[in-house]
Amino acid sequence: MNQGDQLSTEQQLKAIQQQLVETQRMAALGELVGTTTHEFNNVLMTIINYAKLGLRHKDEPTRDKALTKILAASQRAEKITNSVLGLARNRKQEFAPTNLADILGESLVLLEREMQKFRVHVRCEFAEVPPVRAIGNQIQQVLLNLMTNARQAMPKGGELLLRLDHDEASDSVDLTVRDSGVGIPREQLSKIFDRFYSTKDGPDETGKGGTGVGLSTCKEIVEAHQGQLRVESTVGRGTAFIARLPVFKQLPSAVTAVPIAKLGVPAQVVRMAD
Ligand SMILES: Nc1ncnc2c1ncn2[C@@H]1O[C@H](COP(=O)(O)OP(=O)(O)OP(=O)(O)O)[C@@H](O)[C@H]1O
Ligand SMILES: [Mg+2]
Repeated sequence: MNQGDQLSTEQQLKAIQQQLVETQRMAALGELVGTTTHEFNNVLMTIINYAKLGLRHKDEPTRDKALTKILAASQRAEKITNSVLGLARNRKQEFAPTNLADILGESLVLLEREMQKFRVHVRCEFAEVPPVRAIGNQIQQVLLNLMTNARQAMPKGGELLLRLDHDEASDSVDLTVRDSGVGIPREQLSKIFDRFYSTKDGPDETGKGGTGVGLSTCKEIVEAHQGQLRVESTVGRGTAFIARLPVFKQLPSAVTAVPIAKLGVPAQVVRMAD
């Protein structure tokens, strides 16, 4: 095989991998529709009920209370739609300074109800961390996969810990998704990132799981961010996935422009490269 052939095979592989990441995004979106429709309905019920209350009782304190509840419910509805739209419309498909706490919050909004339903208590430990260099939409995809796996590993409920730490030595941020679930046997650990490797019988009652593409997609995305995804697990105690993402570094603007334009690469992308 000459070099030209090899290159095109590599390019083809890359294109297929990108398609798979994209397909997985669409699948994640489809799965979310069920969860969020339910959630949205709940919010609407709150709004309707408090609007009725406000109409029935003309006194100011009751109306104030009703309006406050309606406002809170509407703001929650807004958060839900924004989170879904973020994933749906792809935000910006370019690397940008990204606040991981925001992305975690948005992902949590989408899965909050599901976690409650499966008696999973969510704990957040967010240290002050600098923005990372990331495509926000893709990191949300990673989070939804990891959080769903975590929930599925705790069939009787448990604790989901979401953590953010700044690793100063490598100037990166560690994003940890830890569960108190069943854990992963040592002999399976080397396989879990393989595409189509799954120990699940099929989708669960929420329509999630069983395809074996979640973790391989996560790994691909994190590595495309020049990061690393690693796992720590103890059978019977739980599992943690840690995604390490490089901190966003702004180069002085004088460094950008001319040679980059000649390469035909969007200035934005190169300016942010390490
Ligand atoms: N938090 C976890 N705890 C225990 N096992 C896990 C955890 N996350 C992943 N695994 C194991 O790794 C396997 C692969 O995970 P992956 O997310 O790639 O696929 P899946 O969840 O089976 O299907 P899907 O493609 O729908 O995500 C799982 O089937 C499970 O055996
Ligand atoms: Mg999965």
